[in-house]
Amino acid sequence: MSSRVSRASASSSAEARVRKALKKYYLSPLRYPGGKRKLAARIAFKMDCHGVDGFERIIEPFVGGASVTIAFLEAGIADRAVISDLDPLVADFWATVFSSRADALADRVLDAEVSLDEWLRLRADDPQDTIERAFKCLFLNRTSFSGALSETAGPIGGMSQASEYKIGCRYNRYALAERIWELSRLSSRVSVRNMDFRRLIASYRAAATRRGIVPNDFWYLDPPFFHKADRLYRLWFADDDHRALKERLASLPGRWFLSYDNCPEARASLRRLPGYALADMRYTANKKSMIDDISSKEVTAHNFAQRAGVANEVVLGDRARTVEVHDVEAALLAVEPNAKLDATVRP
Ligand SMILES: C[S@@+](CC[C@H](N)C(=O)[O-])C[C@H]1O[C@@H](n2cnc3c(N)ncnc32)[C@H](O)[C@@H]1O
Repeated sequence: MSSRVSRASASSSAEARVRKALKKYYLSPLRYPGGKRKLAARIAFKMDCHGVDGFERIIEPFVGGASVTIAFLEAGIADRAVISDLDPLVADFWATVFSSRADALADRVLDAEVSLDEWLRLRADDPQDTIERAFKCLFLNRTSFSGALSETAGPIGGMSQASEYKIGCRYNRYALAERIWELSRLSSRVSVRNMDFRRLIASYRAAATRRGIVPNDFWYLDPPFFHKADRLYRLWFADDDHRALKERLASLPGRWFLSYDNCPEARASLRRLPGYALADMRYTANKKSMIDDISSKEVTAHNFAQRAGVANEVVLGDRARTVEVHDVEAALLAVEPNAKLDATVRP
């Protein structure tokens, strides 16, 4: 583990560090439906409960507003981050914020015309320039209902702009530019990808297998909601995608924490996973918005109880078994009651 993480962790709990960072540091400039800023402290609390101190890297395959990554970097819980989103607008936004082009993006934000005409122009536009694409992402996010980037989301204030809340009410250009400047401080610690989660997981899994180690990585997995995701994001999940993600959990190299919106499908899917729980979260979305009936509870699961450096797949001789239990010794004994506990474990 890096010296940065271990120095910070010597003095206080992960939860205390995250709570302090949430008060002190800048937030994500993106408003994200289902943004997980509040969940960051709960994840850290769970880490404390299981004696997990910090990570070399946080990896977020569904990064959206990046709230957990930002909180964990600022709190010194993770030294570096790999963030990815299949939506190229979202990936371009973060690739620009965490780069030397952040100043140019902040200038673009400061000089923007905030009007319904500009909203309509950007919605129809397909900019080729990266800064313009990053700007389009932020502008539409801050001026559309509930921060939704989906094609069906309308502008805040409606097409008639007759509402008390007009299109610019969430576009505070000075605060947004400042957040971009401040976040760009973290550039050297963040890598950004634009990948499907399957490819991202496969490449990190292959690297861990090649190196023969389970890295001190933390995967924060916040996939699109089971319901209404098509009204919130530009890309969402089919049933197969939910299944594919679940299948990959057991072989993720490192620790992971998974969160879903609370619904019967998510509860049924996660119920048998380690660390299964319901977390109470309150969305602060506009009550008149399209997501006001989304539950304030999150369904979560994690593998923090697993011992460090141990993967979920247990290999006995030439037989491999994937297990969904917290402790590899218990897993081994379940698979093979007379097993020697020095059997190989592979990532
Ligand atoms: C629930 S949101 C993430 C919210 C984020 N955790 C936050 O705090 O703001 C899910 C994200 O997954 C992305 N996504 C959808 N399908 C994907 C896929 N197959 N691979 C990677 N990302 C995907 C969407 O573009 C969306 O940004």
